[in-house]
Amino acid sequence: MRLVEPDSPRMARSAALNARLCDVVPGGAHTYAKGADQFPMNLAPVLRRGAGCRVWDVDDNEYVEWGMGLRAVTLGHGFEPVVEAVARAAAEGTNFTRPSELELEAAEAFVGLVPGADMVKFTKDGSTANTGAIKLARAATGRDRVALCREHPFFSYDDWFISTTAVSGGIPASCKTETVGFAYNDRDSLERVFALHPEQIACVILEPARLEEPEPNYLESVAALCRRHGAVLIFDECVTGFRWDVPGAQTRFGVTPDLSTFGKGMANGFALSALVGRRELMELGGLKHQRERVFLLSTTHGAEHVGLAAGLATWTAYLEHAVTDKLATIGEAMRAGVTELARKHAVEAYVATVGHPACLFYTTRDADGAPSQEFRTLFLQELIKRGVLAPSLVASYSHDYAAIEKTLAAIDGALGVYNQALEHGVDGYLNGRAVQPVYRRYNKHAA
Ligand SMILES: Cc1ncc(COP(=O)(O)O)c(C=O)c1O
Repeated sequence: MRLVEPDSPRMARSAALNARLCDVVPGGAHTYAKGADQFPMNLAPVLRRGAGCRVWDVDDNEYVEWGMGLRAVTLGHGFEPVVEAVARAAAEGTNFTRPSELELEAAEAFVGLVPGADMVKFTKDGSTANTGAIKLARAATGRDRVALCREHPFFSYDDWFISTTAVSGGIPASCKTETVGFAYNDRDSLERVFALHPEQIACVILEPARLEEPEPNYLESVAALCRRHGAVLIFDECVTGFRWDVPGAQTRFGVTPDLSTFGKGMANGFALSALVGRRELMELGGLKHQRERVFLLSTTHGAEHVGLAAGLATWTAYLEHAVTDKLATIGEAMRAGVTELARKHAVEAYVATVGHPACLFYTTRDADGAPSQEFRTLFLQELIKRGVLAPSLVASYSHDYAAIEKTLAAIDGALGVYNQALEHGVDGYLNGRAVQPVYRRYNKHAA
């Protein structure tokens, strides 16, 4: 059996900076999914810069990146037209006492991209946009309960959603009872939710697709159930937006929700998200009605110019280039490559790609065929050592042939080790603790 290798000496500075990050930032990162606990021990690079599909860490190691800022970067790091637009905007001032011409331009352009949308509120993250959608739905219906899709792992850091996870510290217990779950691609499951809570469901929120695509007529049946029961239909397109299609999966599947939210992918990694939808709902947050007012997404930075300029330049790039086609092509190439390599190393029952090609993930299973954090850690570890940072296999428009080749060569090496670990036990191949689930009640290990 191979002996556990010592800590990688190439990452000494990252290790030191990770320790400092954990001292000064709770969780050591501003998104739990980026935390050092999500990466193999001593192989959690702290990054300095990126270009296209590559990033460099503080020890000057270069990686091909397949996470792309939690899927926010769709065009590539430092994509020139976006950078130029942002630089111009920054030079001319970014936040004024009154709305700006750019704000109007961005709002009209974005509403023009989303079918069925009459109005938009920009904000800075998907969580806030989703919470705004929930608030509108509650105000419009006079109901409190939210029905959300159980298989979709994240909608918001806000209480209405996080109360449904294992990490419910700091949230009043009453929040939990306001949220009910239904199963994806299962019309009857949603029908049961409506039957169990008659005239109580304010809205139904789901991603139109995630790892699973909608079965024929599924999204249409969800829309029909919402109409019949007087609930607002919200599509969370924070991930599917600008990856499945432009603006998102709703155009791909031809189903228009009442409200939709966009975040990642809207502005190539710059901070911009949006709540869009039908006028009669959105206007509740406006000035042209006599109903009770809704305090909808009122934020200091909501329309600052750097985010809006990045958004406009990103949408232009999508109109000028076949971005989503290229994302899908790269994803399909990766799927084919991983499948072939898994076969070569006789691990096809253990390592496989899943999901839409523009948002590809992989599964890692142990010798019994059960999903395994230990084997995920091993796979990540072997990839990082080979210069590939791949918590997922999420492509950008800037991923090139050389990056794909390098990644597949790294996967080839990693799967060789995986095969050995299946035979001899994973512990002897791991450099430390396994990666930790984000949704856990207690910290079992230090980062
Ligand atoms: C589907 C979905 N919706 C909403 C969010 C929240 O976005 P943000 O992190 O910008 O608040 C995420 C983040 O991962 C997401 O995956």
